[in-house]
Amino acid sequence: MQEETINTNKFTSVLLDVKNEVLAQIVDASSITELEELRIAYLGRNGKVTNLIKNIKNLPKNEKKRVGSLINEVKNTILNALATQKNSFKESARDWFDASIPGEKPIVGRLHLVTQAIREISNTFEKIGFTRVRYPEVEWDWYAFESLNIPKNHPARDDWETFFIDTPPHARYGLMALTPHTSSGQVREMMRVKEPPIRMLNIAKNYRRQSDISHVPMFHQFEGLVIDEGISIIHLKGTLDYFARNFFGKDRKTRLRPHHFQFTEPSFEVDISCGVCNGKGCRLCKEGWLELGGAGMVHPTVLKNGKINPNKYSGFAFGWGVERTFMMKAGLEIGDIRLLYSTGLKFLRQF
Ligand code: FA5
Repeated sequence: MQEETINTNKFTSVLLDVKNEVLAQIVDASSITELEELRIAYLGRNGKVTNLIKNIKNLPKNEKKRVGSLINEVKNTILNALATQKNSFKESARDWFDASIPGEKPIVGRLHLVTQAIREISNTFEKIGFTRVRYPEVEWDWYAFESLNIPKNHPARDDWETFFIDTPPHARYGLMALTPHTSSGQVREMMRVKEPPIRMLNIAKNYRRQSDISHVPMFHQFEGLVIDEGISIIHLKGTLDYFARNFFGKDRKTRLRPHHFQFTEPSFEVDISCGVCNGKGCRLCKEGWLELGGAGMVHPTVLKNGKINPNKYSGFAFGWGVERTFMMKAGLEIGDIRLLYSTGLKFLRQF
């Protein structure tokens, strides 16, 4: 293009022709190398578009701005077309699947350790005929305390540090509370089954106003209740030993220590022989035993509240914390119960 003959209309029409010419070739290109050659031929240092741009200085002064922005538009259109075509080659390359390349391992989720413990506890008791039940997470005072021989204002209630719900009391059942222990399922189960035999395993969430290294405000308990004719402490001890052997390991034993609960008579604390020192005494257990939880023979008043004849039937009950029982398994040295409910995946993935 001669410097003296340059005219804006001609310049723009040549520019648009060059643009169309390169776009047609880009669409026809069949490799990334071809695209690179086109880029150099049109936008390179000596490319067709670049050479045209060099003539911009010869355009009338008042047209330079308008033509300048047209040039930018053309350059961008060409660059975009090159990029789009290049991506389409990559896309079609992806259609080819190389089965020999090692796959990416997806992260596999797992059950929370409390869920694992609940399943293991259920399986262990189901093998000897217990039926798993679940009772409400929000409970009436009557089922949680009164039916269990713990009247209003009885000092034993303090042990349960209960969360009461701010609603008007029910005429017969009293206040509502977040269930403080699975024993509240005892009378419910008696009323559900009506006539023994009963072999209940109630595993549920419980709530108490407690939080330290051995307490969490929400925890789980598993409660066993067996009622039939002629049930005695021997059956209780046999069941506890069966659980100790099957859940903790074949050499583990239990022992009963006298205790007091309002709803069992006699009542016991159940200990399990320590899995670390095998009952000899060590830093973990001190005297060879670890405390598991409460148990006892069902109090006649509780049977009566569940409409079961205490002269005909007797029973035993036990109720332990799922989390603490799980923490007592040999090899699990979990120093703080609250870790079980932390969101630390590094900790949780160990189990
Ligand atoms: C009871 O709750 C009685 N209902 C147990 C029972 C059932 C006795 C049947 C007799 C017959 P206790 O308050 O001790 O008892 O709790 C039992 C177990 O629940 C404890 O040994 C502990 O393992 C667990 N536990 C109690 N409070 C918490 C808490 N805040 N955090 C974690 N675990 C807890």
